[in-house]
Parts: sequence; structure tokens; C-alpha cells
Amino acid sequence: MNNLNNKKILLIICGGIAAYKSLEIIRLLKKNGVTIKTILTKSGAEFVTPLSIASLSQSKVYQDLFSIENEAEMDHISLSRWADLILIAPATANTISKLANGNSDDLASTVALASNKKIFIAPAMNVRMWNHQSTKQNIDKLKTYDYRLIGPEIGDMACGEYGAGKMSEPQEVINKLDSYFKNLKINNKLKAIVTAGPTNEYIDPIRFISNKSSGKQGYEIAKSLSKKGFDTTLISGPTNLKTNEDINLIKVETAEEMFQATLNSLPADVAVFSAAVGDYKLKETSKIKIKKQDKLYLELEKNVDILNYVSKHNFLRPKLVIGFAAETNNLVNYANEKLNEKNCDWIVANDVSNKKIGFDSDFNEVSIFYKNKKTDKLKYKPKSEISDELVDKIINHLN
Ligand SMILES: Cc1cc2nc3c(=O)[nH]c(=O)nc-3n(C[C@H](O)[C@H](O)[C@H](O)COP(=O)(O)O)c2cc1C
Repeated sequence: MNNLNNKKILLIICGGIAAYKSLEIIRLLKKNGVTIKTILTKSGAEFVTPLSIASLSQSKVYQDLFSIENEAEMDHISLSRWADLILIAPATANTISKLANGNSDDLASTVALASNKKIFIAPAMNVRMWNHQSTKQNIDKLKTYDYRLIGPEIGDMACGEYGAGKMSEPQEVINKLDSYFKNLKINNKLKAIVTAGPTNEYIDPIRFISNKSSGKQGYEIAKSLSKKGFDTTLISGPTNLKTNEDINLIKVETAEEMFQATLNSLPADVAVFSAAVGDYKLKETSKIKIKKQDKLYLELEKNVDILNYVSKHNFLRPKLVIGFAAETNNLVNYANEKLNEKNCDWIVANDVSNKKIGFDSDFNEVSIFYKNKKTDKLKYKPKSEISDELVDKIINHLN
């Protein structure tokens, strides 16, 4: 089914060899009934001509930030407001860096920075550029700003080298955009945030305090939400788990980073806080490795309480806020206490004293405590099934 029909997409074409693929993207978008406007960077114009783009897209190509004609007709703010979605393809290392750092020295970067729309980027670059630490950091940053990544793929490159950095094929780009609009339609644009995994609170550059958490339950919940059509952002502490590409995965390490990523991802309709966030962090983290000594005294201070903050926020609070409680004893009392103290709607609690369930296991058994004092029990089963049942309850509640 075509979910792109009648959509408005602003395509930004940057200066890379793969710019030729953007012409095919335009052709496919048009075929699917999309109205397109295009921004071509100065370098992009070295690879494809405005004339080809205008002919294929049947609309004007925007190139200059300082253009009297454009400002009168459609200025840089209106361009992003006009679109349902922005696609940057190919996205160069240079433009990615500018977006990650808030630079806006041309029309493309200014529009992206001023945008209130979902931005998809399809990077294309040499394997070493892609694997460079600075590019990796920039991509990680963009993910925390809720940018969506399409590709890149591994393969032969125009420069003769082989590796990751090849832009996704046009049809793959179209499929990703189509599935994004499809998901929006299914659940009426419902957006979900899930936190998962532990956090690391650093003592020095190589030592940290952490919590025992595999992240498996949270990852499964994100998968179930995404499968049922939610636009899902998963904010994950350090884990080795993989997730599917429809989920916007934001990787963080510390509680503070998880907090910032959560704030950046809001607003949302539902937030599931399943991460085992460290309650404490070091008052001061040493910048150099602390040499081994007989005794080491650490001064800890309380970490930010993400669940509490979001649950009590007067306008950022999602319609449904779900907290998790992993307890070794007194489960019912602690879960009810948490429910009330943190002002959340549901608490999903599991007893982690039983080694067969909870931590590291692929199975779980949980109790759900609701604000109205009711409870539900999801009996021992795979975490994926627990997640599916939980998400069905979320959908019922939101509808
Ligand atoms: C022949 C040629 C091919 C290039 N291909 C790429 C590329 O695939 N990816 C990339 O990030 N930069 C590539 N560059 C470098 C960019 O064009 C350059 O960084 C430019 O400043 C990008 O500007 P823009 O991001 O505003 O489009 C290439 C440059 C040349 C001369």
C-alpha cells in the first residue's frame, strides 16, 4: 500500500557522488504521489544540476540562503513548515557535522536547524569518513536529537574502496519513508519513548558504578510498540542488544545523558521507563585514572530521577507514564509506594530474587500496579510475549 500519496517532502541534496541517486529518489517519490521541494547545497550543485532536479520534481530548486526572491516567496522557516518530512540524501560528513553542532551557514543547515519536522538522513561517504570518530559522534548526537538514519550500507564505493558508508539504494529510502508514514497512520501518530538497560556513572575514565540490567525487557517493549505502529524511540544504556531499524535507538551511558535524551525525545504519548538508572553518581569524576591505593573513598550524590521528573512535569508529561520496579522483597508495598511517590500511571514490577526470571533471562513474570489500585499479573513467559501483552494494554488505555 502506498502511504506516501499526497505527502509533502523537502529533499536536501548534499555534495557527494551519491547525489545521482537523489534523482532516482525524486522519480520514485513523484511516482508515489509526493509533492517535492528541493534544497541543493553549493557542493551538491557540483554533482547534479538544478535543471535535472526541477525537471524531475516539477518544482523549484532552492539554493541560496540570502535570496530576496525566495524570502518573498517561501523563506527558510516556511520551507520546513511546509513539509511533512525532511529527507537529506545524500547526507555528507560535512552537513552531518553542521547539523550535529547547530551550525547554520547555508540554506540546508538553516532549514534543518529551524525545522519542527522529522528529519531522515541517508549518509553517503567514504568508509574512513564514516568510521571516523568525529562522524560517529556526530551521528550519535543526531540520534539524540531524534534524527532518523537510513543506512548507510556496506559495499563497493565510487572511490574504489570497500566498506560502510555507501548510500542506501533509492527504493530502500522510499521503503523507509513509506513505513514511517504507515506507522503514523496505524496508531494515529502515537509516539512512544522507552528507556532500557543500565547506566554507567564514571569514577575515572575507566572505572564506573553501574546497575545489573540486561536491557532485554525494555528492548522487547520497544519492538512490540514499533510493531504495533508506534513511532518508537528507545533510549538505551550500555547493552550488547540489537534492535530493528524502525526504532529510533539513542545510545547513552550516564543517567544525565539518559535524562537529556529523554527530554529531547518528548513530547510523547507514552513513556515506559524500564532502565535501571543509577540512583547515585560520583560527586566528582576524576579526569585521569586513579592509581591503585589501599582505600578509595568515593563521594556520591543523588542522580537525576528521570521518571519522577517526567511524571511530574506540567506540560511534557506523556498521557501514560509507566515505571518499572525490580525488587528482591516486599514487592507489592514498594511498587505501590513508587506508583504514588513518582506520580506515574502504572508500575510494572518484577521479583528479581528468583534467578529464572528478570535479569539476563529471556523470560519474565511481572505484576502491573495501576493508579486505580487494580493489579494484573503477566505469568512466566518470554519477555517478547510479556511486551506484546503490555503494549496491548497500552493501546487499550490510550484509545
Ligand atoms: C568528487 C568528490 C566526491 C565527494 N564525495 C563525498 C561523499 O560521498 N561524501 C561526503 O561526505 N563528502 C564528499 N565529498 C566532499 C564534499 O563535497 C565536501 O565536504 C563539501 O563541503 C560538502 O558540502 P555540503 O555538505 O554542503 O554538501 C566529495 C568531494 C568531491 C570533490
